[in-house]
Parts: sequence; C-alpha cells; structure tokens
Amino acid sequence: MSLAQKVDAQTMPEDVTPEMIAQIDEICAQYKGKPGSLIPVLQACQEVVGYLPVPVQEYIAAGLGIPGHEVFGVTTFYSFFSMEPRGRHTIRVCMGTACYVSGGKEALDILERHLDTPVDTTTEDRRFTLEQVRCVGACGVAPVIIIDNDTHRKVMADAVGELVENYE
Ligand code: FES
Repeated sequence: MSLAQKVDAQTMPEDVTPEMIAQIDEICAQYKGKPGSLIPVLQACQEVVGYLPVPVQEYIAAGLGIPGHEVFGVTTFYSFFSMEPRGRHTIRVCMGTACYVSGGKEALDILERHLDTPVDTTTEDRRFTLEQVRCVGACGVAPVIIIDNDTHRKVMADAVGELVENYE
C-alpha cells in the first residue's frame, strides 16, 4: 500500500488534494535518508500545498521515516513555515516607529477594513495575507508597505486600498 493510500481522509484538510499528496510522496522519496534534507523537503511541500497543516507534517514525517516531533520542531522554529493557509500575496505593513508615526498605523487600519481581515490573518478568498513587521530599514521613505517582493515607499494611507487591488 502506498503512502497516498494510507492517508487518513478524515484528518487531511479538504484543500490538500490527491495530486498534492502524490507530489509530497515524490519529494519524500527523493530525499528520504539524506542528511539535512528536512528543511528542503518542508519548503518543497509548502510550495506544493501552500502551507503545512499538522496532518501534512505527520504525513511528511511518515514519508521520511522520522518522528513527527522532529518535523514539528522545525516548522515551529522557522517563521517561514506556516501552519495556516496563506494568501497568494503577502502584505507586510511596517510598524516601526518612523512608519507608525508617518501613517503606517492608519494604513494598516484601512487595510484591515478594506480586506475585511484582521492583521496576521489571511482573507477568506486566500488572496492576501496581511502582516505587520518591524522596521525594514527604509525609515527615510516611511511609511513602507511591502507586497510580495515589491517595496512601496511613502505610501499614502488613503491610497492603500487602490494599491493592493493591483495584486490579483
Ligand atoms: S520604521 Fe519602517 S522602515 Fe524603519
């Protein structure tokens, strides 16, 4: 019986498809037994699924033949692993002092209302994950909002709604 056949359909989230499971199988098979492979495996699996819910982590542990706690230890330690679904785009609003006082807080409030989701959550349609970050080292052009890999400088709070609409 393949690993895919052993998946407990009761515990695996609905959005984790059989195709995704098959890809995870391939990734695990490729790396199994190779030292130092856990982080690359988890990164690859997160790319496939979009996040790493606990049942997926357990599945990966089984696929690699390692204890679940080893996987959990890594996913909880590194912030780039997410156990919650993430949006297609990540909005990071700088809340460092310079940005905060020059309109960053206002921009964040507006984004929470515009996207109808609180900070540190993902919109229901999984279009956006909204986060706040500390100073990103661009205080001279505050307030700063980073969307995916784009840094937006001197952002006008009342224009943030329009700004995010450029990201489908
Ligand atoms: S406080 Fe935002 S870039 Fe420094």
